Amino acid sequence: MKVSPSLLAANFANLLPDIEMINSSDADYLHMDVMDGVFVPNISFGFPVIKSVAKLCKKPLDVHLMVVEPEKWISAVADAGGYLMNVHFEACRHLHSTIQLIHKAGMKAGVTLNPSTPVSMLVDIIADVDLVLLMSVNPGFGGQPFITNTLKKVRELRALIDMSGSKALIEIDGGVNEKTGKDLSEAGADVLVAGSYVFGADDPHSRISILKSL
Ligand code: DX5
Ligand code: ZN
Repeated sequence: MKVSPSLLAANFANLLPDIEMINSSDADYLHMDVMDGVFVPNISFGFPVIKSVAKLCKKPLDVHLMVVEPEKWISAVADAGGYLMNVHFEACRHLHSTIQLIHKAGMKAGVTLNPSTPVSMLVDIIADVDLVLLMSVNPGFGGQPFITNTLKKVRELRALIDMSGSKALIEIDGGVNEKTGKDLSEAGADVLVAGSYVFGADDPHSRISILKSL
C-alpha cells in the first residue's frame, strides 16, 4: 500500500519537525489540502506554504485542490513544486481540458470524487488520469468518520480501471485508520491519505508503517 500523510493535521505553528518526520518515514507522498471557503466550508493554506514545504520535503507533493475553478491554479501548483494535482470532478466545467493542462504543466493528474458523486461519471475520463481520489468524508475537515459506502465505490472503480486498461491509482481520503485501511486494501485501494491517524499519534512513523503493510 502507498501512504500519503495529510499535512492538514500537522502543527501549523511549527511544520519543520513534521516535515522531517515525513522525510524519515516510509511515506510515499505528502498530501496537501488547499481550500477556498467556497467549494468547501473551510480555508486551509495556499501556494506560499506549498512552496516552502516543497523546499524541505523529500517526498513528492500530492496536492488536493478543494477550490472552485481549479484550472486557474495549474501553473501556481506546478511552480510551487506539486508532483500530482488533484482536482474535484464537481469543480471542473471542462475536466478533460483541465487534465490535459495539468499534464502540459509537467504534473501527474488526479480527479477527485465527493462521497455523493458516482464512480460511473468517470467512464470517459478514466483512460486520461493518473489517479482517482475518492473522498471517504465530506471534504473540508480532518478527523471525520469514514463513510462506509466508499468501499463499494472502490470495488466499482477497481472494475472500471481493470476493464478500461487504465493505469490510474485509487487513492482514498478521510477517516483512514488501520481498520478502514484494511477494508480499503481488500476492496482494491492503492494509496491511503491519513491526517489525524498519523499526526495525532505519539509514534507517527509506526502509524505510517502500519498503513504501508496493509
Ligand atoms: C479533508 C481532507 C483530508 C484530511 C483527512 O477534506 O481532504 O485530506 O486531512 O483527514 P483525516 O485523515 O483526519 O480524516
Ligand atoms: Zn485531502
